[in-house]
Amino acid sequence: MFENFQVPVELIPSDPRFGVGPSLIPVEHLKNLVATGTSLLGTSHRKPAVKKIVKELQDGLRYYFKLPTDYEIVLGNGGATLLWDMIGLGMVEKSSLHFVTGEFSEKWYKAHAQIPWLKARQIKVEAGHGINPKDEPGYDLICSTLNETSTGVMSSFLPTLQDPHALMVLDATSGAGQIKVDWNKVDVYYFAPQKVFASDGGLYIAILSPKAVERALRLQQDKSRYIPEYMKWSHAIENSRQNQTYNTPAITTIFLMNEQVKLMNKLGEEAVVNEAKRKADLMYGWAESKTYLNPFVREKSMRSHAVITIDVDDRYKMDDLAAVLRAKNIVYDIEAYRKLNRNQLRIALFHNIAYDDLVKLTKIISLAIESSN
Ligand SMILES: Cc1ncc(COP(=O)(O)O)c(C=O)c1O
Repeated sequence: MFENFQVPVELIPSDPRFGVGPSLIPVEHLKNLVATGTSLLGTSHRKPAVKKIVKELQDGLRYYFKLPTDYEIVLGNGGATLLWDMIGLGMVEKSSLHFVTGEFSEKWYKAHAQIPWLKARQIKVEAGHGINPKDEPGYDLICSTLNETSTGVMSSFLPTLQDPHALMVLDATSGAGQIKVDWNKVDVYYFAPQKVFASDGGLYIAILSPKAVERALRLQQDKSRYIPEYMKWSHAIENSRQNQTYNTPAITTIFLMNEQVKLMNKLGEEAVVNEAKRKADLMYGWAESKTYLNPFVREKSMRSHAVITIDVDDRYKMDDLAAVLRAKNIVYDIEAYRKLNRNQLRIALFHNIAYDDLVKLTKIISLAIESSN
């Protein structure tokens, strides 16, 4: 229905990438990578050139998040998905409780539910609704997803756990960097860098409290559990302490993430978070001002500052509009999460996506819809 739609030149965004991951990587960062020439790519990840960047990345994250000094930054290959298994196999004593708000939090729950020696329970809400994690007795691991990428729900209020042995674990994949948490209430905070941290996928970052490190190393002594060598926390922790990964990483991914951390540290977390809120206000304000749009997440406090989802009147097929804009190389990746089957827009509010480009995007979509009548 939008095949004849023409985007006015003044509305063309400076960058077409609005997707929630892999996300916009600044071209400047790619140029910086090229400038490393023969000194970095193609050299050993156990030697100073790469280890220096890993250390810079770890130090940069510590500075950005203002981490407690005894928290450790662990990294390795496998992305956030690997951690669902690694945490299930190696960090749960007996039982984990999962707050499920969408596809990713559900996958995490299912990963634990398959482990024969664990009891995993989920508290699930319908897609588009949110739930903040709550303290419940009888669980030694509370699992929550900071920003449910499939639905645009943010769950950032954390309970104080009454059981001093219980661990609070957050999948922060698409919220890390833009949605703040109270570190005193978090034991494991993990993410992959292809979202706010503007790198490629395949890597995971897990920030661990001393309690989490103790739990992981202790449970590994239990020989009755089978933990594949690749998923042993001891390898990940020991290598990270030496600014390395257990097995060979993609150096490009580490380099690009480090570039992004440096960029964000120039502003500081406070300013980055505030800019994310400004973008969220812009987008939700727009969605509420148009009769044919509706924010998918109704509870305002649960509306994400990193990923926005907007339902659109069924008369205007958003997949068609997204396809037309993609074919013209003007806008990429604004389609809804595929399994939701909704006529919906899903747009990243990540740091590298310029506020002015989001303004242009809202104008393009409004113009396309309003001129199609
Ligand atoms: C909230 C969340 N958790 C986990 C994942 C899985 O990350 P990865 O693809 O790096 O394994 C994603 C991917 O988009 C995600 O959005």
